[in-house]
Amino acid sequence: MIPSAKKKASAIEENRKYPWMIYRSVFGVLLLASNIVAGVGLIAAPAEAEPSSARQNELIYRLRHDCGSCHGMTLKGGLGPPLVAAKIAETDQEQLVETILHGVEGTPMPPWNFEINRDEAAWLVRLLKKGVRYED
Ligand code: HEC
Repeated sequence: MIPSAKKKASAIEENRKYPWMIYRSVFGVLLLASNIVAGVGLIAAPAEAEPSSARQNELIYRLRHDCGSCHGMTLKGGLGPPLVAAKIAETDQEQLVETILHGVEGTPMPPWNFEINRDEAAWLVRLLKKGVRYED
């Protein structure tokens, strides 16, 4: 082969390889991006999301004032049953969460899902099962 033809041939060869290089690097970037999204997703959405500390304070305030009006200021019971750890520690977590979210029909226990979401209800139940201490 004469040198100029050889050069041309290798240029064609380059062109043929080039698209694959692009596909390969685009694929690499997509793979990296999907790994980042998956990783961030894991950090941002753990199985049980904790409410922010400001929201936790609101929920504790609500527990004391709204829930307390039926369950007792110290949650030892009133119109509603006691919500102290000794009484509910053994009760199924999901059942208590459902009760908070949807209330109990035919009883004064109202549904709270219009302003307490599932993660928040789950957090409240974990708190109640551990035992709430008011610092006063
Ligand atoms: C208007 C009164 C009232 C208010 C307000 C109220 N509850 Fe209740 N709650 C009840 C009654 C009555 C029951 C018992 C229902 C039954 O007979 O099953 C109950 C049951 C429950 C139970 C189930 C207890 C168990 O041992 O199974 C949980 C948990 C609970 N309430 C949480 C809350 C929380 C949290 C709030 C505030 C966000 C709240 N309640 C506000 C009246 C109330």
